[in-house]
Formats: sequence, structure tokens, C-alpha cells
Amino acid sequence: MAKTKSEFLCRECGASCHQWAGQCLECKEWNTLEEVALFKITSSKPESLQDLPPSKVQKLSEIKSERKSRLTTGLTELDRTLGGGLVDGSVVLIGGDPGIGKSTLILQAMAVINKENTVLYVSGEESAQQVSDRAVRLGIKEDVLFLNETHLEKIIRLAKELHPKVIVIDSIQTMATDGSTSAPGSVTQVRDCAAQLTQYAKQTSTILFLIGHVTKGGALAGPRILEHMVDCVLYFEGDAGGRYRIIRAVKNRFGAVNEISVFAMSETGLQQVENPSAIFLSNQTKPLPGAMVMVTREATRPLMIELQALVDQANGNPKRICVGLDQNRLALQLAILHKHGGIATFDQDVFVNVVGGIKVNETASDLVVMLTISSSLRNKVIPKDWIAFGEVGLTGEVRPVYNAIERLSEAQKHGFKTAIIPKANTPKKLIKGIKVIPVEYLYQALQYMAENS
Ligand code: TYD
Ligand code: MG
Repeated sequence: MAKTKSEFLCRECGASCHQWAGQCLECKEWNTLEEVALFKITSSKPESLQDLPPSKVQKLSEIKSERKSRLTTGLTELDRTLGGGLVDGSVVLIGGDPGIGKSTLILQAMAVINKENTVLYVSGEESAQQVSDRAVRLGIKEDVLFLNETHLEKIIRLAKELHPKVIVIDSIQTMATDGSTSAPGSVTQVRDCAAQLTQYAKQTSTILFLIGHVTKGGALAGPRILEHMVDCVLYFEGDAGGRYRIIRAVKNRFGAVNEISVFAMSETGLQQVENPSAIFLSNQTKPLPGAMVMVTREATRPLMIELQALVDQANGNPKRICVGLDQNRLALQLAILHKHGGIATFDQDVFVNVVGGIKVNETASDLVVMLTISSSLRNKVIPKDWIAFGEVGLTGEVRPVYNAIERLSEAQKHGFKTAIIPKANTPKKLIKGIKVIPVEYLYQALQYMAENS
């Protein structure tokens, strides 16, 4: 007798549980677990192995490497994030909040690719009129093939007839396959549709773009459940109301991970920002307490980013809120600041914000976070031409970061005059125009700030 087993999958992160629970144990989102039929256990005997063709083993050294040139999207910044262009048969997932510019970016790229290759743009959420209006707005004259369809089998049948070089699915959450009975946007539909499309792309060497909305409400399965299936995952950062959009590669089988590209949303679509190092600085001319600039390194280039902290008397439970930084790390930084810097914030609300909507994952931001918190708490201004970077350990030591010289040169280029950096990063040769303050422990940085600002 056939027996169906089921499991519970999280719509946000794809984690599985045997039992339903109100909160996902992995990503801690509430009410995102969905029951999914797992497989059928049948009492009949498994198929005899003798009927199946034998599996073939190959020596890796005997497999010829196929290094083909990559397909360019016409946007050099996007190509760089993809690791130098698109590889045949690759599957790229593009995730981001609704309205951030996913469809705009892809349409711009497809118009360029369409000059020499066939492109099939499938939209399940916008009508032909809407996409055509957008193309007019973007000044696109190329004839990209458009299909308004959500039925997966029909899309694959059409693709087999047309043999496009690139297929865009906008968005994967609107697609439905006959093989699954659940609603479009559910975990099973999204996963099954993506699996079938990926299989088609690999068999036919078609480049596949899957667009996925990041949803906070949990009504649709998020793109994270597809991350393991695809070759490359790009996420949009930045806020939809602001001007800049950052595209970050969080997974890339054909290039560097954490590579970013920066675009500015304009009246005529997304424009590349080729030298983004100074756009994450606020335009504030007067120095104010709680602000300082750090130099991070995102994959291959240094970026100047302004951090802001606000420390204020708490009314009730003290709040710790980060925008663009890791929330858990803030708790750790506050504990280090108390233990090794003598700065107590247990009765204070602490807010930390990264200017420009970019996310900073680097631990090199520790020192600046702590200095801005101290600056806000004491209401003391940090001079505008100071920068800092360095990881702070649990024992209060300031640890070195990589590519320190490059970071210092970038800061010097932008006119910064003083740099508080880890002692182990002290450059052997002086860098003209910038005074280096090497610190071994956190208290030394705080002391320097107290005495000189
Ligand atoms: P869209 O690409 O539709 O976002 P997504 O596919 O991620 O949901 O575009 C989103 C926003 O961009 C929309 O609010 C309008 C704006 N926009 C411009 O500012 N300039 C433009 O040239 C275009 C095409 C869109
Ligand atoms: Mg869209």
C-alpha cells in the first residue's frame, strides 16, 4: 500500500522540520513553515538494477576543459559581478525587494544580448503592454521576444521550438507546473519549477535568469530556497526609495563571491556607477557626534562608507538596532566596549546605521562602530578627515585586516588625514598625506579619540 510522508519546509530559507512549529528554527521567521508531501513509500520491490544502464566513471584528467568566451550583458559592472560575463548553461538567480529594479536591470541587459542572440523574456506578473512601456522608457529598440505565461510546461515547449540563448523568468514565484498541486509561490511550486527549468538549461546550454522577490510577509516562498540549485546568486541591496542600488554576488560558481556592482536609478533606467568609492558618504559638511568613515573592501575594491551611531537614554528595555550591520555583532561590540573600554550602555538605546543602504559584512567595521558609539554617547565630534578600520577581539585587542595599504591609499585619495588602524597593519613606508595611528588595544583608540577630538 502506498503511504505518503510529509515534512515542513520554511518558505524563507527552505529549512526542513519533521513537525510544524510557529517559528523556523533556522532563520527564526514566524509562520513560514509549510507542509510538503515528501515521497511515496511503496511496498512493491524496487526496480531491478540489471534493467538500468551502467554508470560511467571518468578520469578528471581525461575530461577536456571547455573554456568558451563569456557572453557580455553590455553592463560592465554587472559582468564583473558575474565573474566576467555569462557562462553557457549557467543559471543565475536575481533576488531583491519588490520595486528595487530587478526587471529593469534584466531588460536592459537582455536588449544588449539580443543584438546577437535570441532572448526569451517570460513574465508571469506583468502584461506585454507594461513591459513594452518599460522598454520605451529605457530607450530599447531591440526586439526581445516576450511571452506572458505562467504555465511551466508551455514555456519549456516554446523554448524547445525557439532555442533561445537566454531565458528570463520574471518571477519564479508566479510560475506553476502540472507536477505540483500546490499554489504558485509555495515552496513546492517554486522548487519544482526551478528544478525543471535548471534541467532544461543544463541540457541545452541555455543561460537562465530566475528573478525572485524577497518577501517579508511570507506569502511567497523566498529566493533563498533556490540558492543551492543555481550557479550564481545575485541580491539587490539598497532601499527602493533611494537612488543607489547595490548588486552583490552571494554565490558564484564562475567567479568571486561577495563582488558588488553599484547602479543609480535614473529616469531612463539603471546607470552604472563605475567609481562608487565615495557615494556612501553623507553630504554633511559640518562634523556631528556619532559619525565616522570606515574603509571596507568588497571583494576586489575598497569602499569608503560612513557609519552613524545614536546613543540615547533608554525608556524601558534598551533597544539595539542595526541597519546594514549584523545585529548579533552589535551586542558583542557593546560588551567589549564595556569590559575593555569602560563605556557602559546598558541603560541606553543604541542605533547604528550604514549610510547608503549597503550591507557591511566585514569585521573590519568593529573599530568604527565602537568609536561612533562612544562619540555619540559622549557627544564629542570625530573630525571629518579621520578614518578607521580594524577587527576588535573579545579580549579588547585590535586585530589586523587584509589589504590595509590599499585601504589607506584610498582614504588618502579622498583627502582623509588621520587613520586609526591595527598596529599589525602599520605600513613599512609612510603614506604621504595621511597620519597613521597604530593601536594594539581598543582603549588606545578611545584614548586617542578623547585626547584629540
Ligand atoms: P522594477 O524593475 O519594476 O522593479 P522590480 O522588478 O524589482 O519589482 O522597477 C522598480 C522601480 O524603478 C519602479 O518603482 C520605477 C522605477 N524606475 C525608474 O525610476 N526609472 C526607470 O527608468 C524605470 C524603468 C523604473
Ligand atoms: Mg519586476
